[in-house]
Parts: sequence; C-alpha cells; structure tokens
Amino acid sequence: MTSDRSQCPELWDSDLYQDQHAFVWQYGEDLLKLLNPKPGEYILDLGCGTGQLTEKIALTGAKVMGIDSAPAMIEKAKQNYPHILFDLADARYFQVDQPLDAVFSNATLHWVKEPKAAIACVYQALKPGGRFVAEFGGKGNIQAITQALYTALEVVGITAEPLNPWYFPSIGEYSTLLEQQGFDVTYAILFARPTSLAEKQAGMANWLQMFASTFLAGLSVDQQTQVIRQVEQSLKPTLYSEGTWTADYKRLRILAFKVA
Ligand code: BEZ
Repeated sequence: MTSDRSQCPELWDSDLYQDQHAFVWQYGEDLLKLLNPKPGEYILDLGCGTGQLTEKIALTGAKVMGIDSAPAMIEKAKQNYPHILFDLADARYFQVDQPLDAVFSNATLHWVKEPKAAIACVYQALKPGGRFVAEFGGKGNIQAITQALYTALEVVGITAEPLNPWYFPSIGEYSTLLEQQGFDVTYAILFARPTSLAEKQAGMANWLQMFASTFLAGLSVDQQTQVIRQVEQSLKPTLYSEGTWTADYKRLRILAFKVA
C-alpha cells in the first residue's frame, strides 16, 4: 500500500523531517481526538511519515497500520516502532486486505493532486459506516510563502505554477468530492494555524529546502540561494519576528462517514 507524495520529493530526509519538523505530528495529536480510536478497531494511518501518530493510535488498543509513499519515511517508521505494521503505498492506488473502521490522515493530502483517486481508495478501504478523519492544507494555505516563491522564481526566469506540487482545496470543494463518492460529511472546518518553524533564523530556508524542493530542483546552487534569500527578504516583514519564522498554515479538517 502507499500514500502519495510522488508529486513532491520522494527522497525526503527522514532524519531532518523527524528532528526539525516535529510540529507536523505534534499538531496532529489534536486530530487524534476527532478520530477517537477504540480498542480492537482496524485503522489505517494514510501518510504516516515517521510513525509518531501511528504509534499513538496503536497505544489506544486499535489495530493500526501506517502507509506512506516515501521509502525513507517507512524505513524510519519501522526503525522507530518495530512492533507496528508499516508499508509503502500510494494514496491514489492503495487497497486493504480487510475493511477498516477508520482511515486517518494528517498533513498528507495536500500532496495528492488527484483527490478523487485518493477519496475512492479511502471509500473502498472502509466498512459501511466507517469514518474518514483527515487534516491537511486547505484553501489559502501558505499563501504568502507561495506568492513570495513565485515572484522570486520569476526573477530567475522560472514559471512556478507547473512545478507546484500542492493541492489546497476549500471546504466546499473537498466536501463535494467526498459526497460524490458516497460519504456523509458531518464536520468540516478551515482554520488558520500560524506555525513557528524550528532552527530560528534558518527556519524559512530549511522549510523551503525540505518542502518546496520541486520549485528549486532545476536551479543551480547559486540560483537556489538567490531564490531562498529573496523569499526570506520579502517575507521578513510579515512572517519573521523575534528571531523566529512563522509559516502561514491554514488547515482543512474533515470528518466523513461512508454511507452505510
Ligand atoms: C502543510 O503542512 O500545509 C504543508 C507542508 C509542506 C508543504 C506544503 C504544505
């Protein structure tokens, strides 16, 4: 099985991800309350990364499996939690061996630019009445960062739009896709979550190198440095304060049930 980050770097550095971007799963703990896992339930963690939230689900007594499309993430997750099942899989194509009570997904679906395919897989994987609990970047997510990146890339002659690996839907758009597939959407919220980046002054550069590498891949090292410096310069007045960078995250959080 796999969740998909194929539109973005498959070769993420899982150590860097785990050490410098821990906020990804730390914020996800809130989503676990919405999942409300119960002992004995079969649950899939779609886009499990290095496995921290998968483990939290396992600790409730649920039978959980984590999937991710990045081999380095799966390798790290297996090292971190050898007692939990992890597998490589793509969110657009995965299948499960037995119907699940719930599919959980944190900070993954904004990497899946074929949402209908992922939603169809989630639907297939669930029992009738099963639930889908997801949070990811929604409409307006990292708007300031994206705009600054587009402008900086234009200066070096690159049109950014075709390189953009992200999908940030509105509540209306994503709920409609879920309903068309046969889900009842019982809860949906879009909210701002300004997120402090670790590594202080280097926070924005590190974030760009980790998460925006598809935009930088075709550039020389000098051009990459130029783009990153220009992004920092233009965002400094709004996203840098007291030695810390903040990313202008906006989350879409959804609870939907497969119609029984
Ligand atoms: C996010 O979590 O919203 C996100 C992370 C990396 C790139 C784009 C969005």
